[in-house]
Amino acid sequence: MSTQAGVAGDKPNIVEVRRLIKHFYREDKTVVPAIDNVDLEVHPGEFVVLLGPSGCGKTTLLRCIAGLEKPDTGSIQIQGKKVFDSSLGLVVPPERRNISMIFQSYALWPHMSAFDNIAYPLRSRNVTRASIAERVHGALKLVGIPELAGQFPAQMSGGQQQRIALARAIVSNDDLVLFDEPLSNVDAKVREQLRIELLEMQRKLGFSALYVTHDQTEAMALAHRVAIIRLGKVVQIGSPRDVYERPNSRYVARFVGTTNELKGTVVSAPGSDGTVRVATELGEVVAIAANPAFKTGETVAVVIRPERCTLSSTEPTAPIRWQGTIDAALFLGSHTEHVVRIGERAFLEWGVGSELREVGARVWLTVAPEHVRAVTILDPTEK
Ligand SMILES: Nc1ncnc2c1ncn2[C@@H]1O[C@H](COP(=O)(O)OP(=O)(O)OP(=O)(O)O)[C@@H](O)[C@H]1O
Ligand SMILES: [Mg+2]
Repeated sequence: MSTQAGVAGDKPNIVEVRRLIKHFYREDKTVVPAIDNVDLEVHPGEFVVLLGPSGCGKTTLLRCIAGLEKPDTGSIQIQGKKVFDSSLGLVVPPERRNISMIFQSYALWPHMSAFDNIAYPLRSRNVTRASIAERVHGALKLVGIPELAGQFPAQMSGGQQQRIALARAIVSNDDLVLFDEPLSNVDAKVREQLRIELLEMQRKLGFSALYVTHDQTEAMALAHRVAIIRLGKVVQIGSPRDVYERPNSRYVARFVGTTNELKGTVVSAPGSDGTVRVATELGEVVAIAANPAFKTGETVAVVIRPERCTLSSTEPTAPIRWQGTIDAALFLGSHTEHVVRIGERAFLEWGVGSELREVGARVWLTVAPEHVRAVTILDPTEK
């Protein structure tokens, strides 16, 4: 007998966004589809990152969830409760959604001390003075600057202000915290440090997070799942490894890392083994089909990560092998990089602990079949 194991009694999703649409109207009357039919879930304790280029709608989506922006249509649930539903005309105001949000600029009050800035969200929530003091000091300790309680924002470094903003976001102990590029205003070293601390804090306190960034490394480092956004749409969602190793589109392959690409035409529909033959400028290539519905004649991109490429001086037996010439050889500390010219194409190869080849040397480049992937081209006008 089949059971519905795990359905009854399961905690509801922290966030559930369904078919959300939001347009903006510019001064010149053009319409911007900032959120274009988005479905998204955040599970209890999960860290979900929204990753996409400037203007793709990340902030707008966070603001819709927080209640600071009213979507056109769709619905939003927070912890099993509807907070927005266009078909019911339901809009719950932001202060009744029990969400903390940390903004793209840290938005600290300049006339308030660090203590008062952090205490601010608690003061409107009927928390006793003693309890406020205890929680603010706890939050200050968590972000590592208990000694700055009495300082004003203008008397602090950028990184310290960022920590105050983080403390303010966690002090309410909300189950959901929305982060809008909270680390974008500090230099790389501090950002790396804060990223690790934020991760520890989230795993320790157990809140769910929806975190916006356009920094691929940051997304990979923080996320349980990454949602990649393009023009207001979620084009792929999965674990960092998933989106990196199994991108569905050229857009995602490019956005989450460096990739070698060959444009090509599908020779015949994908077989039952999940592979597809693609005619490229370097001959026919058998690739893992990102989409089982690829059609014969369709234009696709074959993508290969540089670290999956191997060089050899003598001809290997591997099924995928191309002969080329070393155009550039770079020692980059942690790894080496070769640019290999194969026909008209420049391929990148990355190696760890390998010797540099001579520029001009003839080499063979191989890649294992499971690392050759045929993906959709979302925007054919992009080069
Ligand atoms: N109040 C507004 N009026 C008109 N258009 C807007 C408004 N707010 C945002 N937009 C437009 O909606 C789109 C999405 O903006 P949004 O701020 O969500 O992008 P984003 O992904 O957060 O970008 P960034 O990484 O630069 O912060 C953009 O094209 C922007 O110009
Ligand atoms: Mg933004």
